[in-house]
Amino acid sequence: MEVVIVPDARAGGELIAAAIASLVRRKRDALLGVATGSTPLPVYEALAAKVRAGAVDVSRVRVCQLDEYVGLPAGHPESYRATVLRQVVEPLGLPADQFMGPDGSAEDVQAACEAYDKALAGAGGVDLQLLGIGTDGHIGFNEPCSSLASRTRIKTLTEQTRADNARFFGDDIEQVPQHVITQGIGTILNARHLVLLATGEGKADAVAAAVEGPVAALVPASALQLHPHATVVVDEAAASGLK
Ligand code: F6R
Repeated sequence: MEVVIVPDARAGGELIAAAIASLVRRKRDALLGVATGSTPLPVYEALAAKVRAGAVDVSRVRVCQLDEYVGLPAGHPESYRATVLRQVVEPLGLPADQFMGPDGSAEDVQAACEAYDKALAGAGGVDLQLLGIGTDGHIGFNEPCSSLASRTRIKTLTEQTRADNARFFGDDIEQVPQHVITQGIGTILNARHLVLLATGEGKADAVAAAVEGPVAALVPASALQLHPHATVVVDEAAASGLK
């Protein structure tokens, strides 16, 4: 695992956007796994700026979601499908058929999870998966004690994560769905390159446990230690718990 400490979130965004651009120059139809939440926004902004400047042609890039809420009505602005469309797919000018995600409104959620794992494999696998990290060490929505071998499945969010995400739902935790579909940790580890971005002091303990602690289901992000090509990009605040 490579750990890169950058001065701030903006620098982290620039660094990762440059890595994505370099991947796309090598592989025009790269499958890019994206995360939602606040942390990756500087990456998406920096990448869109490169596209606007003509520095990289992303027209054949494919994008896939990491996770999705279960039970939000189709088109809900906080569904992760709507979020990724708004933050990534549209700014990059990609057609919707180059974007895939799990179906959080499926009647048979289990079947939707299995279908998504198959779709990812059928698409040739994820080339670069961008990850954030929860304050409890989750990646995707694999909360503590998730199996390190898990595949895409339905999970129940912890109260901590629902509280963390209430800011996207008018600060009302009751509006935050209780269930999600998430790529499993095993699914995430199938990506060829994992890039985790963490910014801010609130992530310092989770980053220290993930990077320097034992590999343990209690800290899902520690699974990155098992991956042959994992990069952890942290700003100085998020790095403050590292030895
Ligand atoms: C979202 C996701 C989550 C977030 C994590 C951090 O798709 O997979 O693991 O990355 O909850 O969220 P922020 O970046 O909002 O602190």
